[in-house]
Amino acid sequence: MKILVTGGCGFIGSHIVDAYIAKGHEVVVIDDLSTGDIGNLNPEAKFYEMDVNGDLQDVFKREKFEVINHHAAQINVRTSVDDPLFDARVNILGTINLLSLAVEQGVKRFIYASSGGAVYGEPEKLPASENTPLSPLSPYGVSKVAAEKYILAYAHLFALDSFILRYSNVFGPRQIAKSEAGVISIFIEHILKGEPCIVYGDGKQTRDYVFVGDVVEANILALDGSPNIINIGTGIETSVNDLITIFSSILGRNAEHQHVDPRPGEVLRSVLDCQKASLEIGWRPEVVLKDGIIRTLEYFKKIPES
Ligand SMILES: NC(=O)c1ccc[n+]([C@@H]2O[C@H](COP(=O)([O-])OP(=O)(O)OC[C@H]3O[C@@H](n4cnc5c(N)ncnc54)[C@H](O)[C@@H]3O)[C@@H](O)[C@H]2O)c1
Repeated sequence: MKILVTGGCGFIGSHIVDAYIAKGHEVVVIDDLSTGDIGNLNPEAKFYEMDVNGDLQDVFKREKFEVINHHAAQINVRTSVDDPLFDARVNILGTINLLSLAVEQGVKRFIYASSGGAVYGEPEKLPASENTPLSPLSPYGVSKVAAEKYILAYAHLFALDSFILRYSNVFGPRQIAKSEAGVISIFIEHILKGEPCIVYGDGKQTRDYVFVGDVVEANILALDGSPNIINIGTGIETSVNDLITIFSSILGRNAEHQHVDPRPGEVLRSVLDCQKASLEIGWRPEVVLKDGIIRTLEYFKKIPES
């Protein structure tokens, strides 16, 4: 298949590009390199350094994509609060631009990277299933919901299959320590520099950490099958204190850490119910957290310090 991966130089997108190419697909990447790294780009992918909001008509006419896998986004929650217009331009208008071109040029399928953590807000019932009311608490969450809704509207109006994957907290090699979701890579950076890991508040806040390789598998399954909206996570709540314990056991010594004031507005618990993924697309997370952390640690040990 001929597949466009937007954000294919970023953390998750670049792993998807590698997997699609390994499966024999022809892959084109559009990325503006705002947070992505050209070093992540698979050499067999064709690359356009462009904004998803740009004039992409020539590219679409030339390449004739069958599938769009849309991972390019502004992903920083704090940036979305400071500059909601920028967030909306990238995440909402960028998605509409791609959808319009997809319809115009006869693209068959649109796969979208949404965020379970952001679109459900702070649900009353955990783990959060796909039926949880959408109640985003940040402009970033609103932009991910809006993009989902545009995709569903286009799918309804035109012959476009949509596949929406709502990820929990993804971690793994290539995740930059700057990104907000990347507490595991932030901890690894501190550990490798011999600095203490910073724990906000009592460290009891929980997240659902899913390894990037498992997320890639979901993106392979999303190439086929009926249109759907599916949570991709582990269903397991892990606290920051649990992470410190796991790091300590990997290092064979206490992972040095320091508690500081809690961050105002931080969600205390977040975990996704992922039974639908198992029942409807046969997806299950395979990599246990400790093994994923070891793989991520090994990756960061090998790359030169930036
Ligand atoms: N990392 C997570 O835990 C997580 C969780 C839920 C959802 N997601 C979603 O997954 C997707 C990928 O996230 P990631 O963690 O790999 O982030 P990332 O920042 O590593 O990747 C985003 C990529 O998009 C590119 N990009 C940004 N703005 C662009 C624009 N206007 N035009 C073209 N390219 C642009 C960046 O250069 C980067 O390569 C995003 O849509 C994000 O919302 C991520």
